[in-house]
Formats: sequence, C-alpha cells, structure tokens
Amino acid sequence: MRPLGKVLCATGIIAVLLAFFWKDTFNPESLSGARVLLTGASAGIGEQMAYHYARFGAEILLTARREAVLQKVMEKCLTLGAKKVFYVPADMSSPSEPEKVVQFAVQKLGGLDYLVLNHIGNSPFQMWNGDVEYTRWLMQVNFFSYVALTTAALPTLEKNKGSLVVVSSLTGKIPTPFTTSYSATKFALDGFFSSLRHELIMQKRNISVTLCILGLIDTDTALEKTRGKVYLTASPAAEAALAIIQAGATKVQEVFYPWWLQYTCSLWVLFPCHRNQVLQSYYNYSSP
Ligand SMILES: *[C@@H]1O[C@H](CO)[C@@H](O)[C@H](O)[C@H]1NC(C)=O
Ligand SMILES: *[C@@H]1O[C@H](CO)[C@@H](O)[C@H](O)[C@H]1NC(C)=O
Repeated sequence: MRPLGKVLCATGIIAVLLAFFWKDTFNPESLSGARVLLTGASAGIGEQMAYHYARFGAEILLTARREAVLQKVMEKCLTLGAKKVFYVPADMSSPSEPEKVVQFAVQKLGGLDYLVLNHIGNSPFQMWNGDVEYTRWLMQVNFFSYVALTTAALPTLEKNKGSLVVVSSLTGKIPTPFTTSYSATKFALDGFFSSLRHELIMQKRNISVTLCILGLIDTDTALEKTRGKVYLTASPAAEAALAIIQAGATKVQEVFYPWWLQYTCSLWVLFPCHRNQVLQSYYNYSSP
C-alpha cells in the first residue's frame, strides 16, 4: 500500500493547488440573489447543494418527493442566509410533474438563473435481474424528467443568460458492474445534454450546460448500497456539492469530482485491452 500512499499524497497536494487556482475564477458573490431550481434537494448531494447556495445568498426553489424533509431543508437554508426559499413536492416518475415544477419556480422566483438537475430514482447495486419495467421507470426519473424540466426552463434560462447543471456519474462515462439501468440513464444524459450544448452554442443562445461526473460519494444511500461490494473510498458529499456549484457558476462544460476521475476516463479510453479486468478487480463478487 506504500506506493499507493505516495500517489494519494501527491494527488492530494495537486488537488489543493488546483482548488486554490480554481477558486480564483469562482466569484461567490455571483450567486448572491441567483435564482436556483434544485431537484433531489431533500437528501445527499442535493441537500448539501441547497445549504451551499443558501450560504451564498441565493434564492432557491427546492424539489423532491418528501414534503416533510423538504420543509426541514428549507428551514436550515433560511438560517444559513438564503434570500428566499420555497419548496414543492414532486414525483419525477410522473411525466406531467416537470413542467409544473418549472412553472411554479418561475412564478415564485420571477425567473431562473440556474436549473440544477440532481434527482435520481432508487437504484439497487446488484446484478441485472431482468426487470425491464424497472429500467423503464428509472429512465423516466433519471432521464426523461431531466429532458422535460430542461425544455420547460430553456426560455427563462435564455432570457437570464442562465446555466443548466446536470449531475451525472462516472458510470455515465465508464460502464461499471451492478449498475446496468443506472449507468444507462447516465449515458443517456451525456448524449442528450452534450448534443444540446453543441446546438445552443451553434445558435448563439447564451445558456451554459455543465455535466458533472461524480465518483463514489459518501451519502447514506450510496454507502449502504455499496458496502462490501466495491473497494473504493467515498468522497464527501458537501465537497462534491461545492464542486458542482462552482462548475455551474463558472460555466464549465464538464467537471469531475474527485478531480482525478478525468484521468481515469482518459486511461479507460487509452487502454481498451486491460480495462475490464482492472475495473472488475475493484468489485467484490462472490457467486451465490
Ligand atoms: C453569455 O452571458 C455571460 C454572462 O452574462 C457573458 O459573460 C458572456 O459574455 C455571454 N456570451 C455570449 C456569447 O454572449
Ligand atoms: C465480499 O462479499 C462477501 C459476500 O457478500 C462478503 O462476505 C465479504 O466480506 C466481502 N469481502 C470484502 C472484502 O468486503
């Protein structure tokens, strides 16, 4: 483990340096009064993003399914310094909800500067079990609702030179075991939103699209699901949340968190012969 320790130490130093220079370009004041619609805001990374936006003085509309939890997050946001906070409970597996949520947000905040798409449906971390209906449902929650929310929000985002922030995963760049349907929804996001980004630029429509590629994050759900099944260290949710917010505010096209995932993706492309074997060695599968 010694050489690994050295590598980790070196990467840590580089990360600190990068963070130092990166912060230079991020102006927290740009978020003061920014109008943000945040999905999946009741727990995990979304909840942490809500608190960061609150500290930066944003005006936030939170959405997720559970009203009681949303209310608690809203109250904490107010104590942290958010200018305004609203919430609307919504289930993104219902095709009619996305448009309603955007309408509600525009009505409450008077427009949008940020649409931050972060919610996901429950995804078991297990081998493909043949449940096609489940995959269809997850595609609705993790992908189609993102498309519908974006479509409804594009006019107000364009008017305000706004930003679209899409939270994805390493498994949306590199297929990993135990995530068949989840991985498919994240690949779909990359396809749709990276294509949309081209079109917005070609049409000189001033809306940035930021795709966020996250590794294993230490949310309760992720830790519980992956325990004993994968040999990877989880990164802190609050830090992931901040990386996403900074990337959106600086209109970066893609952000990787932790930052070295970018190099993991490059290696994946460069070494097609050995990559599957190496990747599988990080997973614990004992046949039943
Ligand atoms: C888009 O809007 C941003 C923020 O207002 C501005 O800095 C940038 O110059 C604009 N870009 C174009 C191409 O108009
Ligand atoms: C691998 O999985 C098996 C079966 O679930 C479990 O008993 C074992 O402890 C796991 N190994 C590690 C190193 O987590």
